[in-house]
Amino acid sequence: MKFKKNILCIGAGYVGGPSMAMIAYKCPDYRVTIVDTNPDRIDAWNSAELPVYEPGLDEIIKKTRGKNLFFAKDIENQIKENDIIFVSVNTPTKTFGAGAGKAADLQFVEKTARQILEHSQSPKIVIEKSTLPVKTALAMERILASAKGKITFEVLSNPEFMAEGTAMADLEKPDRVLIGSRETQSGLKARAELVDIYARWVPAEKIITSNIWSSELSKLVANAFLAQRVSSINSISALCEKTDADISEVARAVGMDSRVGSKFLKAGIGFGGSCFKKDILNLVYLCNYYGLQEVADYWESVVKINEYQQDRFTANILGSMFNTLAGKKICILGFSFKADTGDTRESPAIYITRKLLAEHAQVVISDPKALKNAAIDLASDKGKISYIEDPYSAASGCHALAILTDWELYRKLDFQKIYKSMVKPAFIFDGRNIIDHKKCFDIGFNVYPIGKPALSRFEDQSSV
Ligand code: UDX
Ligand code: UDX
Repeated sequence: MKFKKNILCIGAGYVGGPSMAMIAYKCPDYRVTIVDTNPDRIDAWNSAELPVYEPGLDEIIKKTRGKNLFFAKDIENQIKENDIIFVSVNTPTKTFGAGAGKAADLQFVEKTARQILEHSQSPKIVIEKSTLPVKTALAMERILASAKGKITFEVLSNPEFMAEGTAMADLEKPDRVLIGSRETQSGLKARAELVDIYARWVPAEKIITSNIWSSELSKLVANAFLAQRVSSINSISALCEKTDADISEVARAVGMDSRVGSKFLKAGIGFGGSCFKKDILNLVYLCNYYGLQEVADYWESVVKINEYQQDRFTANILGSMFNTLAGKKICILGFSFKADTGDTRESPAIYITRKLLAEHAQVVISDPKALKNAAIDLASDKGKISYIEDPYSAASGCHALAILTDWELYRKLDFQKIYKSMVKPAFIFDGRNIIDHKKCFDIGFNVYPIGKPALSRFEDQSSV
């Protein structure tokens, strides 16, 4: 069969996989191929058990795979055969050299650009889908411009705004699609070609275009603003605990101001995920680079409050449980960085578990989707950790429950049954404010929410 367009994506991760599956699903007359330097990833995408858990993804893969969506290993050949190439490789925080701990590590992006250069025999549109520091397109352009002969490359920026857990819904009905390009004749032509793809299912007014630098920077800033809201409400949760105000009531009152809005005002143990921390630190690094110290400090404080919130949570567990956790069994309910995903990258649960182990607690981890990743994250940690998917078996014999992920199933647990199986006095630390605190207190638990008065049978023990 002859396809109208041939699209390639390099990088079959959480972003590349779902976003290309949606293009293939919405454009049956386009051929979409995804390649990855990791052949195991490709095998997984071609198997019955996809490497990424995302509600609704299985169905779309079933409808498209082998028809117009292909997962392939012959990267070089695919570069030759496709004219439109998305780059969706990872851009982790640099761990070495200049900018270590803050700057984005661009080695994979650069390697990919060189790979494209080496194997191209015709003009290509190269689209940055990964989140990148502003001005990365310039580096890509410079590498690609060293092409010999007549081959030309047009670099576009098309950052992905989907969130994990709701990726398919976000991709199907995005708030906006952003496409940045050079404002030259060839840049505008390439931009129009990408607009055409999204116009198949996204209303015209939601497809916005801009210069390429605005597009790159917008993605970093969007994530920084969202993370800032979480850190803002979390900072106020600490004040609520001191003043008997209730964070949910404060968030509702503030969020109903239409100028503020109600989303991203849920207090908890702090944000996780592959993007927020990485992107803010990247922004901080850029500001430092351009000599904007005050701006850098301002954004860095968003990350600091996030760390503070996690420290506060573990200090509260320690203080409330009579200042010793040694030998006590603590059941962690939820390890992924948020509900509806098995992803544990930068999950606050990693840090909190380590802190508990450092106090010589025994930790039982329960999660419906993230146990495999949890075991990988904690592989190097000494101490007593067990992994039990069933929350009832996990909680049995424990001194405390710590709810770290807002999985729906934890709201509906039979806490009466759990209470009976636990060591008394039994504690619940609700790091996501998702359960009925009063009901659990009446059952017999001592209950510690975030940003609300604790429901405890003891005098305040926390000396911290
Ligand atoms: C990543 C970044 O974290 C995010 O900032 C960016 O917006 C998109 O890419 P994600 O898809 O979640 O997001 O990352 P990951 O699941 O690690 O996928 C990246 C894939 O690229 C991996 O499968 C990796 O094997 C592949 N890769 C990496 C290549 O194919 N070539 C490389 O040179 C490097
Ligand atoms: C985020 C952005 O939302 C998305 O647009 C971007 O493309 C990638 O980064 P994601 O990391 O998948 O997506 O998750 P998101 O839903 O934004 O949640 C991030 C973190 O903030 C989670 O740990 C979540 O639990 C936390 N959060 C979110 C809160 O603690 N409170 C809130 O009110 C909202």
